Amino acid sequence: MIKFDQITKIYRGGTVAVKKLNLEVKAGQLIVLVGPSGCGKTTTLKMVNRLIEPSSGNIYIHNQRIQSFDVVELRRNIGYVIQTIGLLPHLTVAANIALVPQLKGWSRKKSQARVDELLTMVGLDPAVYAGRYPAQLSGGQQQRIGVLRALAADPELILMDEPFGALDPITREQLQLELKRLQEQLKKTIIFVTHDMGEAMLLADRIVIMKEGVVIQDATPEEIVRYPANDFVASFIGRGARPQSVDELNVSDVMNTNPVTIGTDRGLGEALLRMQQRRVDSLLVVKEGVLQGIVRARDLYPYLMRDEMISVAEVMTLAPVIVQEEATLSLVAEKLADGRINLVAVVDGNNRLQGVVTRASLVGVLVNSYGNGQAGEKHSLLQAVGGGK
Ligand SMILES: Nc1ncnc2c1ncn2[C@@H]1O[C@H](COP(=O)(O)OP(=O)(O)OP(=O)(O)O)[C@@H](O)[C@H]1O
Ligand SMILES: [Mg+2]
Repeated sequence: MIKFDQITKIYRGGTVAVKKLNLEVKAGQLIVLVGPSGCGKTTTLKMVNRLIEPSSGNIYIHNQRIQSFDVVELRRNIGYVIQTIGLLPHLTVAANIALVPQLKGWSRKKSQARVDELLTMVGLDPAVYAGRYPAQLSGGQQQRIGVLRALAADPELILMDEPFGALDPITREQLQLELKRLQEQLKKTIIFVTHDMGEAMLLADRIVIMKEGVVIQDATPEEIVRYPANDFVASFIGRGARPQSVDELNVSDVMNTNPVTIGTDRGLGEALLRMQQRRVDSLLVVKEGVLQGIVRARDLYPYLMRDEMISVAEVMTLAPVIVQEEATLSLVAEKLADGRINLVAVVDGNNRLQGVVTRASLVGVLVNSYGNGQAGEKHSLLQAVGGGK
């Protein structure tokens, strides 16, 4: 559906950002461009919607040179999601999503129905969220709206430039899984940029690894892990010389040791503020380091209009999913295989919080242990990463 033919971009001042790039993306594929900072990913992406013009070479969409399209029309027909989200602060969620449909002259009724449909698709109740302004949303919610905006007019092609880069690991993972689910349904052609190899592995039909403006390897995630083209790729996917054995690892080796927490006696306003600042939608509740429970944004909702001061202790859920530090990975995997659970809290013998494990933590393990037997162990991790049995 889209083809790059010998594309080179040299910026004024002489930086060669992209060198003789050849790339073909079939309809319905999600390809991920990945590589270190400055390797030319954003430049490649922006040449597709002509925010940047190549110095030489051609890009074709459905075998037609993109120069032959009207540039305004071209951009309206390509969804675009950027890292900084770029929602318009003075417009409601509904108006932000309906931006391109409006420009395309859709009727008010049709736009509105589309907004409701899209919000529902990502689990945001239109009655609650359509009328809000971007500042009234969490970071994760804003980013969801950014993705919906790109989908609104139902474009065939969507460009995504590190769309989840600014989110905390847990929210980020939720959105990745959501995008994966959406894509299975919608089958858009997507070019997705990231420098997170785990994200690439999770989402991509094909991964294109770039370095200094050149493609180093263009292959399926499977092929890349199994046959890295060279040492650069091998180190980029984080494979050590010797694959790690899943058996040798336990929870404390893979957990994130910096979970976002709040004290039991803090108020709900403070809890919300912390969620907003750290871009999460749940907080682990601790008292003097000891884990007490979990509080999720959705638990706060019924209390937000109340006048009195309500503490986190009053609204938290008592039993988050917990394991001990020395638990095996398969135990955690079993818990995460329940699609409704997004994180497992790790505690020591005195119930003191040590960290959290998410699906992303397990993906890292899978990459490092790849090609090292132990099908049984890994099977449970794979199920967990896939979000359910
Ligand atoms: N407008 C510009 N003028 C001059 N040089 C530029 C311009 N934009 C980007 N570059 C240079 O081109 C190269 C590729 O930049 P690009 O933004 O495509 O990288 P990237 O892979 O997206 O990096 P990152 O992961 O940091 O976003 C870099 O060396 C960058 O400094
Ligand atoms: Mg970039």
